[in-house]
Amino acid sequence: MRIKRLRILAAGLLIGVLIMFRPTDMGAGHSTLFSGYQTVLKQGFPGKNIAFLDRDRLNANLEAIRAKVHPSIALRLVSKSLPSLPLLSYLMEKLGTDKLMVFSEPYLERVLERFGTSVDILLGKPLPADAAARLMARFDCSRVCWLIDSEARLESYEKLQGPARKICVEVDVGLKRGGFKNPEELHALLKQLNPAQSIFGGLMGYDGHVGHSLPVLTSADKEFAEVLKRYKGFLEKVPSGLIQNSGGSNTFWRYSEAGMPVNEIALGSAFVVPSHFSELEKHGLKAALFLAAPVLKKLAPELPFIPAAGRWLALWDINFANHFFLLGGGWPADVVSPSGLKRHFLWDSGDRVQNLLPNQPLVVGSSSVGLEEGDLVFFRPWEGDALVGFDRVEVISEGSWVESLEVFHGGN
Ligand SMILES: Cc1ncc(COP(=O)(O)O)c(C=O)c1O
Repeated sequence: MRIKRLRILAAGLLIGVLIMFRPTDMGAGHSTLFSGYQTVLKQGFPGKNIAFLDRDRLNANLEAIRAKVHPSIALRLVSKSLPSLPLLSYLMEKLGTDKLMVFSEPYLERVLERFGTSVDILLGKPLPADAAARLMARFDCSRVCWLIDSEARLESYEKLQGPARKICVEVDVGLKRGGFKNPEELHALLKQLNPAQSIFGGLMGYDGHVGHSLPVLTSADKEFAEVLKRYKGFLEKVPSGLIQNSGGSNTFWRYSEAGMPVNEIALGSAFVVPSHFSELEKHGLKAALFLAAPVLKKLAPELPFIPAAGRWLALWDINFANHFFLLGGGWPADVVSPSGLKRHFLWDSGDRVQNLLPNQPLVVGSSSVGLEEGDLVFFRPWEGDALVGFDRVEVISEGSWVESLEVFHGGN
């Protein structure tokens, strides 16, 4: 009798706790922004997974970026974060720059095919000399500045046939990703240059670690000051007026004064503000690149083996009330609209990317998300390179579709 009473008490307690901690409805329909995108995309691209750019936001971002960087500092576009040649063209024209930073043999090949010597190219990572030789055999590379990160790399380049090549030297301003560690090492390398083989074009010292400063060790402000000091040290060993490259999306706004040791910064992500760069919203920039997938099936919350279990779960947590299977997904991106959608912990393990070509990913949500079959679920990519999962990126401006841009594929 006592045991029975205890059981009833425990069950009552459990029910009480479940009621107390019952999740509230997290769902809400698309905001005005995403409803606007949905109208345009459902009309122009029904039944399709889509990558798209908001050109108005992109334009506002590029103006904000140009306004923050001191006018004496040139902008160089980081191609890997913007994998689309027509998008690079558009940005180069808008920004009045012909400078690109390229990171891979396949992308450099496409860039040279399309732009030839009309663009000024700096490598963002050193390519093996074999890759450089293949490119030089096919293209006029007179406006390419090859990146040299070690004496051994220089030797391998100087063994290549052909006329002298422009080289830039990678210097370590604190990132610890290779390159010359101090001005003395740089000086020793420069003395070794064979002018018949190599023409010194300047320095590349990426400050990518500054935005990730660990507060227990130092602040981003202090580390940035150190970067500038280290850069100045390297500059003492080189002639002036050549490339003095640094910067990136996490630091461009710090290059706002005259007389800094850097005369150009390379950036790409800040133009489209993927989620890894959401800190940039503090500087007035806005996300401009999104992915969208239509709802393929809207189903009752049933699960395999114990179909009712899904319904029980939904009775407790209304946010499991609908199973939305999507036409696409598995992208390096997070769902941003409608809000209140999530992955199902019993359906997949919740890894951020489980399968890059999932046949129909599941997201769950309450009825307040307002989704029906054919409606779109929007994703914000972690990085601009999420575009490589698509053939084209559509461009929207002032509530209308304006053009479709080809995406670069080919690897890094
Ligand atoms: C050498 C170099 N410069 C600049 C950048 C900045 O690129 P983003 O602005 O897209 O972060 C990078 C990014 O990896 C880089 O490697």
